[in-house]
Amino acid sequence: MFSDSPKFFGRRKGRTIRKAKSFLLAHFLPSVRISPKTPFELSKMFSRDYQKVYLEIGFGDGEHLAQVSSKMKDTAFIGVEVFQNGVANLLSLMTGVKDTQMIANDISLLDTRSDNVRIFDDDVRLLFDYIPDAFFDKIYLLFPDPWPKKKHAERRFINAKNLQDLSRILKKGGVLQIATDHPIYKRHVLRTMHQCPNFRWTAKSSNDWRNPPSDWADTKYQRKALREGRRPVFFEYERV
Ligand SMILES: C[S@@+](CC[C@H](N)C(=O)[O-])C[C@H]1O[C@@H](n2cnc3c(N)ncnc32)[C@H](O)[C@@H]1O
Repeated sequence: MFSDSPKFFGRRKGRTIRKAKSFLLAHFLPSVRISPKTPFELSKMFSRDYQKVYLEIGFGDGEHLAQVSSKMKDTAFIGVEVFQNGVANLLSLMTGVKDTQMIANDISLLDTRSDNVRIFDDDVRLLFDYIPDAFFDKIYLLFPDPWPKKKHAERRFINAKNLQDLSRILKKGGVLQIATDHPIYKRHVLRTMHQCPNFRWTAKSSNDWRNPPSDWADTKYQRKALREGRRPVFFEYERV
């Protein structure tokens, strides 16, 4: 934690993290972790050059990030998540280490993966001041906490201040992808994004927001929504 941290209202830790995942947090995370001290230059963050870089904010258990980064080997990804259990799960997906028998001194990425993911395991707002203008090609915000009660509305991630930061760090023509299953958050996104002149909703027909985009991978919260009968929407906004 940083002394001037913005207030974070979610959970940083859940149930006890099993030994194998704790091992990954202690011994593998440092090799892929970034911090505000890391120079925001792709050549310094990654071991090779990339033309494109995507950001996923609040990746949860990391399923979407693990899958898209595995398919798109020529794109660099920065994933941000506060919840330590989620970070540990992403590390498990990246390395294939699931239990203590698989722990070794030289844990590495699965052979099928490329070294194109870096992780910031804290509040993304702590990074904003360090990210250069027009840095990202795409930003994913998938199933953000809806904070549906009116008295908690100011906790919603989509707000005027964060949109200023997101529009600054997105390239012109870059995409902000937001998914949500919550009716109140759907309306909140549409209203708040409409008020922000830096973004343009790209949907041309209802199919464009009712169906996931082509490069999609399911997330835990998406499956939970479907199980509980809520239909997710997929909003895509272009940085103008
Ligand atoms: C409802 S969960 C969705 C997780 C995942 N995207 C999914 O679809 O399964 C929202 C996640 O965003 C994370 N989160 C919320 N605010 C954040 C912030 N400011 N910085 C980083 N992560 C954040 C939470 O810790 C939580 O794991």
